[in-house]
Amino acid sequence: MSLIAVLAGDGIGPEVTQAARQVLESLDLDLRFEEAPVGGAAYRAAGHPLPAETLALAARADAILFGAVGDPAFDTLERSLRPEQAILGLRKELALFANLRPARLFAGLEDASALKPEIARRIDLVIVRELNGDVYFGEKSRGTTEAGLREGRDLMRYDEAEVARIARVGFETARTRRSRLCSVDKANVLETSQLWRDVVVEVARDYPDVALSHMYVDNAAMQLVRDPGQFDVIVTGNLFGDILSDQASMCAGSIGMLPSSALDDAGKGLYEPIHGSAPDIAGQGKANPCAAILSAAMMLRHTLDRPEAADRIEAAVAAAIAAGARTADLGGTLSTQGMTDAVLAAL
Ligand code: NAD
Ligand code: IPM
Ligand code: MN
Repeated sequence: MSLIAVLAGDGIGPEVTQAARQVLESLDLDLRFEEAPVGGAAYRAAGHPLPAETLALAARADAILFGAVGDPAFDTLERSLRPEQAILGLRKELALFANLRPARLFAGLEDASALKPEIARRIDLVIVRELNGDVYFGEKSRGTTEAGLREGRDLMRYDEAEVARIARVGFETARTRRSRLCSVDKANVLETSQLWRDVVVEVARDYPDVALSHMYVDNAAMQLVRDPGQFDVIVTGNLFGDILSDQASMCAGSIGMLPSSALDDAGKGLYEPIHGSAPDIAGQGKANPCAAILSAAMMLRHTLDRPEAADRIEAAVAAAIAAGARTADLGGTLSTQGMTDAVLAAL
């Protein structure tokens, strides 16, 4: 029996997490689910976005199914109390440093992609995003300049160990696929990126079978829409990976289609859609649950060692989409539950 911590969070988080849970529960997998509040919902209930009990549950669970956090009502709170600190805290406290964000086009979604069909069809990549460092976790401050102007600072930093461990995940991931790794940085300007590039080149000596290339992040953003099919695995830092994965999602049809895993070095993981709490559609039953459902499949594959169940879920999503099931983001009319029912029916 595996314990799954269900942290649904805010906005559409509970709606899509409920969908993923329905799919998991339909499979008779010997899972036990325990829920805890997180994000703005936890701040409302307990005065903190990541209550100690929630963190403790996440730490003792075998895997974490996460929805989304974020609520415009709390955007002016002091930063340490904002909903987003919950996901950042979980990633850091549980040392979930490796974020895998696969992007592929499910057959039939060519018309939903922002790209031309023949270009969109080629997308099948994984972004390996570093999740515990970078400008996200460097020293931050607000103050006043000598001239009396308000200023804000966020330190961008990496050390070589942080870069080496995510580089290894990138190479290992490439080995399971088409053996091509593209490291994305901004080494023409940033010292953190020059260190990144140097370390990736050093780690590459252990992976002579993987073809390594380097690309500046601005070019990578352009190449992703010019021809995403050129990429197999992309390894990059926390900030660049955040931005490029949202962009990749629209190549694949919708941000509502992209799942992710956040893994530690022992394979424990937090699984979540790459999207946020979508306040603009929250509470309306409009959210696409596929990213959350596909995140549950990743959980079965990467942490719970149930690859056959993961395959079944992914095949069911593909079949539902091939049969025309579409939420609004994909140009259709199905509700969140309607889309979930289509996946359940295909299972
Ligand atoms: P968002 O991803 O929540 O939404 C961006 C756009 O995509 C919106 O128009 C939304 O309606 C749409 N969208 C997102 N998911 C969808 C889905 N499953 N189905 C259909 N449409 C979907 O990004 P945002 O608006 O920039 O951020 C909203 C809040 O979410 C903010 O508070 C932000 O900090 C937070 N956020 C949290 C996470 C997380 O918990 N991991 C991730 C991203 C953003
Ligand atoms: C994501 C989100 C988070 C991030 C925010 C909510 C902290 O955008 O998971 O992609 O920037 O990592
Ligand atoms: Mn993001």
